[in-house]
Amino acid sequence: MGVRPAVTYTIGILCIILLIASIALLVTNVFVDIVDKYVKKEVQLKNDTDAFETWKNPPPPIYMQFYFFNVTNPEEVLNGGKPFLEEKGPYTYREYKPKENVTFLDDGQKVSAITTKTYVFVPELSNGHPETDLIRTVNIPVVTVMNRVRYSSLQILLLNALLIAERAGIFTTRTVHELLWGYKDPVLSAIHFFEKDIDDEFGLYYKMNRTDDGEYVFLTGQKSYKNFTTIVEWRGNKSLDWWTTGACNMINGTDGTSFHPLITKNETLRFFSSDLCRSLYANFEQELSVKGIPVMRFVPPNEIFANVTVNPENAGFCVPAGNCLGSGVLNISTCKQGAPIILSSPHFYQADQKFIDDIKGMHPNKANHETFLDINPLTGLLVRAAKRVQINVYIEPIAGFIETGKVKTLVFPVMYLNESVLIDNVSAAKLNAMLLQSEVITVIPFMIMGLGILFGLIFIILVCTSRNEVNEASEAERTPLLKPS
Ligand SMILES: *[C@@H]1O[C@H](CO)[C@@H](O)[C@H](O)[C@H]1NC(C)=O
Ligand SMILES: *[C@@H]1O[C@H](CO)[C@@H](O)[C@H](O)[C@H]1NC(C)=O
Ligand SMILES: *[C@@H]1O[C@H](CO)[C@@H](O)[C@H](O)[C@H]1NC(C)=O
Ligand SMILES: *[C@@H]1O[C@H](CO)[C@@H](O)[C@H](O)[C@H]1NC(C)=O
Ligand SMILES: *[C@@H]1O[C@H](CO)[C@@H](O)[C@H](O)[C@H]1NC(C)=O
Ligand SMILES: *[C@@H]1O[C@H](CO)[C@@H](O)[C@H](O)[C@H]1NC(C)=O
Ligand SMILES: *[C@@H]1O[C@H](CO)[C@@H](O)[C@H](O)[C@H]1NC(C)=O
Ligand SMILES: *[C@@H]1O[C@H](CO)[C@@H](O)[C@H](O)[C@H]1NC(C)=O
Ligand SMILES: *[C@@H]1O[C@H](CO)[C@@H](O)[C@H](O)[C@H]1NC(C)=O
Repeated sequence: MGVRPAVTYTIGILCIILLIASIALLVTNVFVDIVDKYVKKEVQLKNDTDAFETWKNPPPPIYMQFYFFNVTNPEEVLNGGKPFLEEKGPYTYREYKPKENVTFLDDGQKVSAITTKTYVFVPELSNGHPETDLIRTVNIPVVTVMNRVRYSSLQILLLNALLIAERAGIFTTRTVHELLWGYKDPVLSAIHFFEKDIDDEFGLYYKMNRTDDGEYVFLTGQKSYKNFTTIVEWRGNKSLDWWTTGACNMINGTDGTSFHPLITKNETLRFFSSDLCRSLYANFEQELSVKGIPVMRFVPPNEIFANVTVNPENAGFCVPAGNCLGSGVLNISTCKQGAPIILSSPHFYQADQKFIDDIKGMHPNKANHETFLDINPLTGLLVRAAKRVQINVYIEPIAGFIETGKVKTLVFPVMYLNESVLIDNVSAAKLNAMLLQSEVITVIPFMIMGLGILFGLIFIILVCTSRNEVNEASEAERTPLLKPS
C-alpha cells in the first residue's frame, strides 16, 4: 500500500467524522444553547451588567409629543352642535426617566426603585411654542367640580354664583404650557379657600415634572430570565383597586421599558402603565429591521379595546360595575380623583365608530395612532417603541347648570400624546456587534459541516483519479499483450 491510498482513507474518515459531529452539534443545539445561556446570564439586574446600566439609565433619547385639539365652534357645541376640532402641535419634550433610589432586596432577587421623569422642551422638533400658543378646550376643572356637586342643590347654587362671578364656562382658552404644567384656576382657588385639600391649580401634567409615580419593586431575573424586571409591587401594593375584577386589577409584567431576553413569537408580553391606570399586553405582529437590528413588532391586540360583547373580560373595566361605554374607551375617573377623564387611542383609533362620528376632525389611522413595541428577540431590548394615548373629557348637560347649555353627551378629545423612543447609534452599533458574535458562534456547526463536505469532495476526486490511474496502468500492461507479434 502506497502513500496515496493512506491519504485517501484519512480524508474519507475525516469527512465522516466532521459530518457526524456537525449533525450532532446541530441536533443538540450546543452553540445556540451557549448563546442563550450567555444572554440569560447577562440580562439580569445586578452590579456591572450592561442590562443593569441600560435599565437604570436608558441611553436612547425618549421624546414626549403632545398634540392638542383646538375647538373652533364653541357656541355651536353649546347649542347641541357637533364639535369641530383642529389638531395642533406637536409640542415635543425630551423625557428623562432614570431609575433612582435603586436598592437590592432579598439577596439580589428583587430591586426597588423610583422613576423620576423630567421634561425639557425641544423647539426644533415642535410645531409652535407652548408658552404662546393658545388652545380653546374643555374647562376640565369646571366640568369636574360640576360633576362633584351635581347631587346637592345647595352646592349647585353656590357653584353657579361662583361661575357667574368668574365668567367661567365649560370652555376655556389657555396656553399649551398652562394646560400641561398647570395654572391657577379661579374657580378652584375659590373652592380651595374653603376646602384646603382641593388644589387651586390645574394642569394635565401638573406636578409631573421632576416627580415620580411611586416606588416599584421589580424582580431582577436572578431566578428565572423570564422574570427580568417583572413588577411585583407598586406603591406598596401587589394589585390595583380601581377596577371591578381581580384580573383587571392585576399589575402584570414589566413597566414597558424593558423585557426578558429570548422572546418568542407565540408569547404575550405584559406591562403595566401607571398613567393608563391598568395593565396591558401586546402580541407579535411582524418581523422588521431597525438600524440593522432584527426586531419583532408587538402591538396591543384589538380585543383589549373591544366592548364586553366581544371580550367579556373587559367587563371589569366598566365603572361603576355594569356601566360600559363601548369599544376603545376607558373611564379612569376613579384613578384621577373623580375628574371625568376618558382614555382612548388618538383620534379614537380602534374605538366605536360612534365616537369618531360625534366629533368633526377625527381621522384615525394605524401608522400615527397605534401603540407598538419593536423588540430585539435575543436580548429583549426595546429598539423602537411608541405609546399613544388620547385624553378625553366626558361632557353632558348637568341639571341646574345653564353653562352646559344644550350640549350633547360627548366623549370630548382634549389632547393626545406620543411617547416614543428609538435606539441611539452607539447602542445600535454595540448591539449589532454582539448579535454578529452570537451569529458567528451559531454558524460553527455549519462551518464544520462545510469542511466535512469539502473533504468528501476531495475524497471522491482522489478515489476517481486513482481508479483512472489503475485503469491506465492496466491498459499499459495489456497493450504489449495485444501487440501482434
Ligand atoms: C452593588 O454595588 C453596590 C455598591 O457599589 C452595593 O452597595 C450593592 O450591595 C451591590 N449590590 C449587589 C446586588 O451586589
Ligand atoms: C422640568 O424641570 C427641568 C429641570 O428643572 C427644567 O429644565 C424644565 O424646563 C422643566 N420642564 C418644564 C416643562 O417646566
Ligand atoms: C385656537 O383657536 C383660538 C380661537 O380661535 C385661536 O385664537 C388660537 O390661535 C388657536 N390656536 C392655535 C395654536 O392655532
Ligand atoms: C417567575 O418565573 C417563573 C418561571 O418562569 C414563573 O413560574 C413565576 O410565576 C414567575 N414569577 C413572577 C412573579 O412572575
Ligand atoms: C393599597 O395600599 C393602600 C395603603 O397603602 C391600602 O389602603 C389599599 O387597600 C391597598 N389596596 C390593595 C388593593 O391592596
Ligand atoms: C394579567 O395577567 C393575567 C394572566 O397572567 C390575565 O389573566 C389578566 O387578564 C391580566 N390582566 C390585565 C389587566 O391585562
Ligand atoms: C412558543 O414556541 C416555543 C418554540 O418556538 C416553544 O418552546 C414554547 O413552548 C412555545 N410557548 C407557548 C406558550 O406556546
Ligand atoms: C360590540 O362591538 C361589536 C363589534 O364592533 C358590535 O357589533 C356590537 O354591536 C357591540 N356591542 C355593543 C353592546 O355595543
Ligand atoms: C366614570 O366612572 C366614575 C366613577 O366610577 C362614574 O362616577 C362616572 O359616571 C363614569 N363615567 C361614565 C361616563 O360612565
